[in-house]
Amino acid sequence: MSLRRITAAEAAAQIENEQTLALSGFTPAGVPKAITAELAQRAHAIHEAGQPFKVNIFTGASTGQSCDGMLANEQAIGFRAPYTTNPDFRKHVNQNEIRYSDLNLSNMATQMRQGYLGKVDWAIIEACDVELVGSKARIFLTAAGGISPTACRMAERGIFIELNAFHSKGFKGIHDVYEIEYHPNRTPVQIMHPTDRIGKPYIEVDADRIIGVVECDIPDEARSFKDPDPITTQIGQNVADFLVANMKNGTIPASFLNLQSGVGSGANAVLGALGHSSDVPNFNIFTEVLQDAPVQLMRDGRVLSASCCSLTVTNECLKGIYDDIDFFKDKLVLRPSEISNNPEVIARIGVCALNTAIEADIYGHVNSTKICGTKMMNGIGGSADFTCNAYMSIFTCGSTTKGGAISSIVPFASHIDHTSHFVDAVITEYGVADLRGKCAMEKAEELIKVAHPDYRPLLRDYLRLAERFGGHTHHCLSAAFAMHDTYIRKGDMRLTDWSEYVK
Ligand code: COA
Repeated sequence: MSLRRITAAEAAAQIENEQTLALSGFTPAGVPKAITAELAQRAHAIHEAGQPFKVNIFTGASTGQSCDGMLANEQAIGFRAPYTTNPDFRKHVNQNEIRYSDLNLSNMATQMRQGYLGKVDWAIIEACDVELVGSKARIFLTAAGGISPTACRMAERGIFIELNAFHSKGFKGIHDVYEIEYHPNRTPVQIMHPTDRIGKPYIEVDADRIIGVVECDIPDEARSFKDPDPITTQIGQNVADFLVANMKNGTIPASFLNLQSGVGSGANAVLGALGHSSDVPNFNIFTEVLQDAPVQLMRDGRVLSASCCSLTVTNECLKGIYDDIDFFKDKLVLRPSEISNNPEVIARIGVCALNTAIEADIYGHVNSTKICGTKMMNGIGGSADFTCNAYMSIFTCGSTTKGGAISSIVPFASHIDHTSHFVDAVITEYGVADLRGKCAMEKAEELIKVAHPDYRPLLRDYLRLAERFGGHTHHCLSAAFAMHDTYIRKGDMRLTDWSEYVK
């Protein structure tokens, strides 16, 4: 038996209006690119002919331009979950053209199996190799675990493989593929250490379910990172100093914690700075996305091992890993997102969660997803998977953005993803707001201390105003969003005039 070679166009031609695709990958890493790009062209042609054409897309996390970007630009996405970072997709979501469901990433495969999201028609999986063993096929994934095992199992019409020569066959053996059982037969996930392996290095399917293999050679659509700047470097130093102080006073174990780091340039810079701090011991990583900075720290011996769902790295960094695969083989494990972000494992092995906030309010509630409460940035990603279950949950952010016109510390977060119950500390370039063991009003004092100096008087004025209304957590509801409203109307939160908002 052999697997049928087909072109991307032949695969795309089999996908019909309103069908659901479940894709491999997590962030642009490991996402199929050839078939979705062809599908965008097919959608264009069908729309030109006056016919409807939209597909629903399930993934591990975000994708790249060949999927979210091109299909969104062709008005070809009906429903999409659970996360995305693509600017074109973001534009169409904020025009309310796509039914976008922002989900905790650990929950995506689970919700698919539970039937919450409806059926899956096709799985499209990027592979570095496929082996036939009798009537079975072994699919070896590329740079991410994502929802691939569940996607393959649920796809009713079949599986397309994108065999992408850009990815090294030497990567075989890095993945640990394990799918959680259905309730009520779930068993504990037996990971005690980030590099423990509990599954197989491949996805096994009946070979006759593979409808076709598309051979291609396409680089991952990785984003480059902004270089660390004085602000992100200072934030990284503040995080390192805080963790060292906690280690010294015994609130975190002397052997340190497994670190999780969030997504984006800020997170990359923070982890880089942590690695360079001589007071931080060598550490292990249990995280969702591994970015460039921790890969270098693995080479430097500062990061001892890493468990993740995806290598969200630049292509240069990815090629470097492929070239040195023997070095990484016993230090790096890639897992499906249901396992990399598994709440039970995170809570048990002890993780320090480091995520980035869009804004935090003076009582410690954090917004990770919505600009001014309404416009979707990316989505919650895995930040809540880790934050809610971590030994210690830290959010970092620069104290301002947009040239100082927006404060990241506000009276009331315009949208809340992480309530204060789960937020242990907020760290800016001005220091650490340590919220543990504090009441709401004490948290406000801590948070105003780490706001930008331009905004501290404004925030203190708000507190004085809010005090008049009493209660446990002081707020003046008519003024709570005055800073946001002023930014929208006048382009700068510093122009906030509280008297305009007090009834
Ligand atoms: N109001 C308006 N815009 C804001 C803002 C605010 N309070 N805070 C940030 N922004 C804008 C920035 O100005 C920047 O805009 P630009 O692209 O036009 O320059 C953009 O958001 C990204 O900000 P940046 O400071 O470059 O942050 P980042 O790359 O570190 O990403 C998040 C920050 C919050 C968007 C990102 O971490 C994220 O999507 N988090 C949610 C998911 C998550 O935490 N996943 C990790 C789980 S493992």
